[in-house]
Amino acid sequence: MKSVSADILSLGPKGKKNDSEPLVYAFASNKKTVNGLIDWIGVEKDKIINNLNTHGAILLRGFPVESDLDFDAVVNAFEMKNLDYRDTLSNAVRINRTPRIFTANESPPDVSIFLHHELAQTTLYPSHLFFYCEQPSDAGGETPICRSDLLLEELENDLPLFVKKIRKLGVRYTNVIPSEVDTGSGQGRSWQDTLSTSEKMPAETILKDLNYNWRWLDDDSLKITTCSLPAIRVLPNGISVFFNQLIAAFKGWNDKRNKAEQSISFGDGSEISKEDMIKVCELSDGIAFDLFWKKNDVLIINNMMVMHGRKPFFGKRSVLASLAIDIKEGLD
Ligand SMILES: [Fe+2]
Repeated sequence: MKSVSADILSLGPKGKKNDSEPLVYAFASNKKTVNGLIDWIGVEKDKIINNLNTHGAILLRGFPVESDLDFDAVVNAFEMKNLDYRDTLSNAVRINRTPRIFTANESPPDVSIFLHHELAQTTLYPSHLFFYCEQPSDAGGETPICRSDLLLEELENDLPLFVKKIRKLGVRYTNVIPSEVDTGSGQGRSWQDTLSTSEKMPAETILKDLNYNWRWLDDDSLKITTCSLPAIRVLPNGISVFFNQLIAAFKGWNDKRNKAEQSISFGDGSEISKEDMIKVCELSDGIAFDLFWKKNDVLIINNMMVMHGRKPFFGKRSVLASLAIDIKEGLD
């Protein structure tokens, strides 16, 4: 691979304690082809994945990734297992382009998607995420990213009792899932799509196996409450992270069926104070880095280390995504 090389353009964090800036890689070689990029990933992938374990996010900028199929090939080069979102309990509406590439979220441009670890409100979540900017917005549409290890450090200082409680009890999430797809909501996936069945009996069997509580509502929508899920995890390298969906649920799970502030509780069902959650949101905003997309950017995220979101936007923004599980890393 003599003709293929890449430079690290900047290292984040740049000496600041609270910084979620990704590492940025760009080609130094004048052989800018997708095959060149794939060759380079083949040689360097262990190093890239190791860097992801420490920095949380890596941006590939200036590479010739010019279509969804190019992006698919780049993701495949990392040789991670595909996690098909159709097999997950994701509540977002998405459209597949290839078996492993799909639109990031079909919710309207004015909807904010707040910081979250992908699928942390469920028992099956990816270890890594890949994003690709097919078309930047005219304005807005940044992807905020936030290091959860740094956030947990701040929470330990500012909200020690809250941290103690979520560590001990875990958290539960409640939401009402529609009976028909609602593209006006960031959580608009129907229960039929979410649970991969159109019948209520098999849906109930799945929920029972998950140890969830559920209730059918008059309009055939489905109210579910998860079992207690861990809110803090210790990663294989010993780093502790604030791995959960609390911020996105508390700020964003609002639609005609759901009231965001009622969507979370401690694992024993007791209330999480609004004041504590407002502080959690403030601290995470202080650490977050807003990524302004350039066309053909690829962002790789270690989903265990870094939360992500989406700011509202104008124009025809198109960001594609892929979920993966790095078998070598394991999830717990
Ligand atoms: Fe997401």
